[in-house]
Parts: sequence; structure tokens; C-alpha cells
Amino acid sequence: MDRSATTRQDGHRAAAPGRVLRELGAQVLWANWTGASTVPSRELYPHQWSWDSAFIAIGLRHLSPLRAQLELETLLRAQWGDGRVPHIVFNDAVPLDAYFPSPDFWRSTTAGRAAGAPAGVQTSGIVQPPAHALAAWLVHRADPGLSRARSFLARLRPRLAAWHRYLLCARDAGGAGLAAVVHPWEQGMDNSPCWDGPLSRVEPADPAAYRRADLDHGAPEDRPTDLDYGRYVRLAEVYRDRRYADAEGPGAFAVEDPAFNALLIVSECALALIERELAADDAESGDSAESAALAESAAERRERADALTKTLVDRLWDPRRGLFLCRDLCAPGRDGELVPERGVTGLIPLVLPGLDRDITATLVRTACGPHFGLEGPARLVPSYDLTGPAFDPRRYWRGPAWFNTNWLLEKGLRLHGDHPRADGLRDALLEAAVTSGFAEYVDPYTARGSGARGFGWTAALALDLLLDDSRSGRGGLLGEEVWS
Ligand code: SER
Repeated sequence: MDRSATTRQDGHRAAAPGRVLRELGAQVLWANWTGASTVPSRELYPHQWSWDSAFIAIGLRHLSPLRAQLELETLLRAQWGDGRVPHIVFNDAVPLDAYFPSPDFWRSTTAGRAAGAPAGVQTSGIVQPPAHALAAWLVHRADPGLSRARSFLARLRPRLAAWHRYLLCARDAGGAGLAAVVHPWEQGMDNSPCWDGPLSRVEPADPAAYRRADLDHGAPEDRPTDLDYGRYVRLAEVYRDRRYADAEGPGAFAVEDPAFNALLIVSECALALIERELAADDAESGDSAESAALAESAAERRERADALTKTLVDRLWDPRRGLFLCRDLCAPGRDGELVPERGVTGLIPLVLPGLDRDITATLVRTACGPHFGLEGPARLVPSYDLTGPAFDPRRYWRGPAWFNTNWLLEKGLRLHGDHPRADGLRDALLEAAVTSGFAEYVDPYTARGSGARGFGWTAALALDLLLDDSRSGRGGLLGEEVWS
């Protein structure tokens, strides 16, 4: 791709290469659309995934605001009574052996009944990062008229509020206010070296008891090892056999993660914007009591977002390494201990509007230093420390660069006014998306693709970078409004 044609200091639309990218990206999203939602990949991930859908909706809004709304609505219809949004919503038209763990492993309608799993749809019982309120707000903004006509925000708001409540209450395993994940799949960066320590205490499940369907479609050297898989299966089994109850405290794995909590904080800000918008609508239609209640809830969310940002810094910031770390709550000690691995998760809090300036500057220095190589040897920010002992440029989350994390960092750089770096990262992302065939992830040095091709969020987030007119604003992920 001609880089000069997509670098737009002057704010003009990209010329021909932009049109090609738009067409190719749209082809991926149309091919992965199932009628009510989008699969991340027809082969490797043939159902609906929670955080994938949030990122996909953010790109889809530029092509079809209606489909973007449906994407989120379909996911949230599968929400459990306790507020959790499951990480997979299964499509019952897909054969059982196409993906493992399949519905008969999770048994949501029976094992999840006490936690309020829906009866009419099969889901997993764990969660994924809460990017949904953020996505809902951005989807609304793409076509506010359609959104109002379909009461999109009014219908989603109670579900998003219950989702956040679940994470902030039932998942506050550390007791400090942050949400904990109880499975590496919940954090989304499945086999990150950040989990090697916490996972080492988990006895793997018997490999003869299940069959890995992912290896039918993915190269073994690109995917997690069998040992890691055995541990994932064991953790999910134990949680299922406890009927997905959180009240008994964490099982063998509980981690406070920087990216998961940063997305929760940003989504709290987005939900505050949603409530403010709905309060204005209610005031206009004369419902002053409802309007006042929504405005009050919005103000509380903004305060909570500030408080959570402080807690994130208190609990997870490592000034010596210059990034946020994961806290392993099951390690010895009253508060567990910090995991001394540098994962890209530790840079993602750059998206937070309330972060201290010194911390922001340090995060950017870390991203550009030897461990992550931005503007140096790396074309895109890797998922794990380039100098770390476990670094592997091909294997899933142990080194390759992913498009969603780089998209978040691009937004973080813009939020803090670093537009030249954000422009460089944006150009690199657009180029890698096209040249890799919208790969699931790429080698951070060469941008050679790995994993699935025609991957949903890669196409969606490339389209968002190409088509989002607000990128030159100061507002980062949420636009200007977050500052008012
Ligand atoms: N990422 C997991 C997988 O590879 C599950 O969410 O199947």
C-alpha cells in the first residue's frame, strides 16, 4: 500500500488504496455476517464472541449502523440473570464438533441455571473484556436518528448497567474495587506469558478427555500448546462444576488485569455518556423524574471511573518497569503479588482519560523502548516483551501483534495529543491489515500474518481507522465529550 496516500495530515480521505481497503474490509465483514451477528472467523471461531463483537460493531457502524446495533443486541440477549455477558454465544446451526469447548461442555442451560443463564440459547459461562458500552456509544453516534427510532440506547442501557455491576461486585475478588478474571480466556490474551506463573498451579485436564478443534484450522506453532490447553479446560470444568458461582471466592486462577480494567473504566465513561444522552431525551419528552435519575447515575459513573483509575494505579502500576502489571490474587500474600512480565496489557491503560501525565509519558516511552519497539524495530506493538525469555513472534499472544490492542494504543496516543505517533501506528495497521489478508495477528517485525485470515475485528478496526472522522480530535476513544 502507498503509505503517502493514507497519511492524512490535511484530513482528506485516502485515495485509491483507501477505497481498496474499504472494499476488502467490507467483504470480510459481509462474509462473516450470519444474519444477526458476526463470526470472528468462519473456520476457527464459528460462533459469536463477546469482545470480538464489540470491536466488530465499532467498524461495522461505518458500513451499516443497523447491523452494528443488531450485533450488540444479539450478544446482550444472551446475558445471564446475574449480569454476566458470556464470552461465546453458540449458533445452534453449527455442528457440535466445529469448535471446542462446545455447548455440551459448558452446559449453560443446566449448570448455569442458578446464575440465570438464558434457557433459549447456549452460551459459555465465562466472560470477556467489557468493551460493549464503549461500542454501544460509538454505534449510537454513527447514526443517532436510527438509534433513537429503534430505542437502541434505552434498550441496551439496563443490560450494560447490569453487566458492569456484575464485574464490579461479583468479580471484585481482591476486594479493592477492580474486576478479576478467573480464566485466561476471560482476559482475552489466552496464552500470554503473564499467565505462565498463575497457570502453573493448575493441574491440566486429561488430554484424552477432549479433542482440540482449533488445530483443524490453525497451525500448531501459531496456537497455544497442549499443556496450556489442558489447563484452560481444567479451569473451565471446575468453574462449571461450581455452577459458575462467584460467591465462594476465586478458584485456582484469579487475576486483576490492566487492559480488562481499563476497558471497564472507559466503558463506565461511555455508559455515563449514554445515560446523559437518555436523560436529555427524557427531559425533552417531559419525564423529569427519569431524566434526573439518569443524570445522577451518569455523574456517579464518572466519579467511579476516576476512583477506579486511581485504584488501577495503586494496585497495578510498576514505576520501575514503566507499565502496568497483572496482579495474581492466588499467589501467597494477603493481596497476592504482581506478575513481573511485560505484556501489552500493561500499556492499554493509555486509553484512560484520567491518567496522570507522568504515567502517560512513561507508558509512551515504554512502548517506544526496547521491550515493545514502537518506532524502532517493531512495525506494530507486540503482545509481549520483545526481549522477554518467552517471546515468540508467531505463537498467539506470546509475541505477535494484534489489531485490537494496537487500535487501542492508537486511540490512547491520540487522547494524549501524540498525533504524529498515532498517525504512524495507524498507517502501519492499515498496511498490515491489507497485506496480511486481514490476519488474526501478525509478526510484529515483519507483519507476516498468522492464525485465521479474513478475521472480523482486523477488518472492522482497519475500517474504523480509515473512516472515523473524529480521529484528529483530542477525545481518544470517546471523542470530545469525555472532557466536558
Ligand atoms: N480464544 C479462545 C480460543 O482460542 C477462546 O475464547 O478458542
